[in-house]
Amino acid sequence: MKEKAFVLATDLDGTLVGDNTALHTLLSYYEESSLDIAIIYITGRHLASSLSLITEENLPQPDILITDVGTAIYTSLSLTEEALWTEKMQSDWYPQKIIRIAENFPLLKRQVLPTDNRISYTVLQNEEVVREFKQALCEENIPHKLIFSSNRDVDILPPNSGKGEALLYVLQNYFHKEVQVLVAGDSGNDVEMLSLGYPSVIVGNAQQELIDMTSHPLLYRASKHFAGGIHEAWLHFFNKNSTSANVACNKETARL
Ligand code: GLC
Ligand code: MG
Repeated sequence: MKEKAFVLATDLDGTLVGDNTALHTLLSYYEESSLDIAIIYITGRHLASSLSLITEENLPQPDILITDVGTAIYTSLSLTEEALWTEKMQSDWYPQKIIRIAENFPLLKRQVLPTDNRISYTVLQNEEVVREFKQALCEENIPHKLIFSSNRDVDILPPNSGKGEALLYVLQNYFHKEVQVLVAGDSGNDVEMLSLGYPSVIVGNAQQELIDMTSHPLLYRASKHFAGGIHEAWLHFFNKNSTSANVACNKETARL
């Protein structure tokens, strides 16, 4: 993937997926532009659930798939799990202790997931209980990262994981350092990756937590929703230099 000039690193639910017409317009735009774009999906879903969505929505196969809120990375056409990342996730990770502490908070409903590589709950619009749970984890010195999204999902992740850390890892290990990146998201679990400092878009239908997030110079707040917001931001950041002739020309210039 080192030769790719562009990367679209996008969340799925509520960002790329949500408006079929806008999605097809975006995908046709990419096909017609003949740009050399790598696609990274970064989702809260687990692997099987991500693959079902890709099939159901007829999404392009990604070059890299990051699942479970940045706790698992799958690369290559056959989507092989990145063992180094998985190993890193296992160090300093105590799922049983987290589960035990959460039992003191009956409003937290545990999500049924295929592994314990992250521990996730749902709670109904109760920020206070999330704060108390976080405090209890801290008091017991449990290494973790807590992410609250959409006023509903509470993800407890290994301390060095998350969508931002996972995206940085794949950009550093699989791409040229000059690659042009657009990061796209719509809810709390996207904050980290949208804050890395790359050109980034908050789609127009985003959750409140993204509307409230701190801006940076390359953070674009789209007015269009879902894939329409990604398209709007892509044109905003890259239209000036994204014709294929221009990209080829820039590559030649770089070789001189
Ligand atoms: C997705 C996942 C869920 C997770 C949420 C927030 O909805 O399916 O497990 O808690 O994203 O990250
Ligand atoms: Mg989302």
